[in-house]
Amino acid sequence: DDRVVVAVDGPAGSGKSSVSKAVARKLGYAYLDTGAAYRAFAWHAQRADVELEDAASVASALPTFALAEATDPDDFFVRVGEHDVTEAIRGPSVTGVVSLVARVPEVRAALTAIFRRLAAETAQPGIVIEGRDITTAVAPDAPVRVLLTASEEVRMGRRSAELTGHSPEVVGEQLKARDRADSRVVDFMTAADGVTTVDSTELNFDETVDAVIAVIESRI
Ligand code: C5P
Repeated sequence: DDRVVVAVDGPAGSGKSSVSKAVARKLGYAYLDTGAAYRAFAWHAQRADVELEDAASVASALPTFALAEATDPDDFFVRVGEHDVTEAIRGPSVTGVVSLVARVPEVRAALTAIFRRLAAETAQPGIVIEGRDITTAVAPDAPVRVLLTASEEVRMGRRSAELTGHSPEVVGEQLKARDRADSRVVDFMTAADGVTTVDSTELNFDETVDAVIAVIESRI
């Protein structure tokens, strides 16, 4: 298998999703948003009426979790069973509980297996996989591994610009709380051995995309 795997990790608001999607589009690669799968599982767990604070109860929703996630950057959707949850998983209700389900080891193991299968099934010459533990756990042997960072101030600014109608203070506090919770489970703030850091604090969107593509081209 000579498909190129590009692993991208980073904190919330680093621009990782939009940058990874643009990189995939430019190179004709597939695109896998792993955060969307964690969000879809959180959506499912909420409906399954599990006890979100209880790891065993959360894990009990795994056998009924029927995820369909597109890997086409131009035709992206996420489904759980017959429900299209592409929009719903971006809402505050899912965002508020996703860290609770993501910390459960059985959930991480099941989703990691799904990600590896989806990556192996893509027809494109390469795939950009984006998340929090891709460079370290999902695809530690990927030929290209990138940590996308930006200063906290810039990340909060970008995120509140996306979410119109929300106060920057509230968005900032939620983002920090989620990063804090997620950091207890996986370290996505420091680059692991062999991982290239791309700091987008001083870069605009196109420059960030080009910087990631430059890393890919230097590695393949
Ligand atoms: O990237 P996004 O903000 O959509 O991720 C949503 C949540 O999914 C994160 O806050 C984290 O709890 C979880 N996640 C994870 N590991 C990944 C990707 C996302 O734990 N690889």
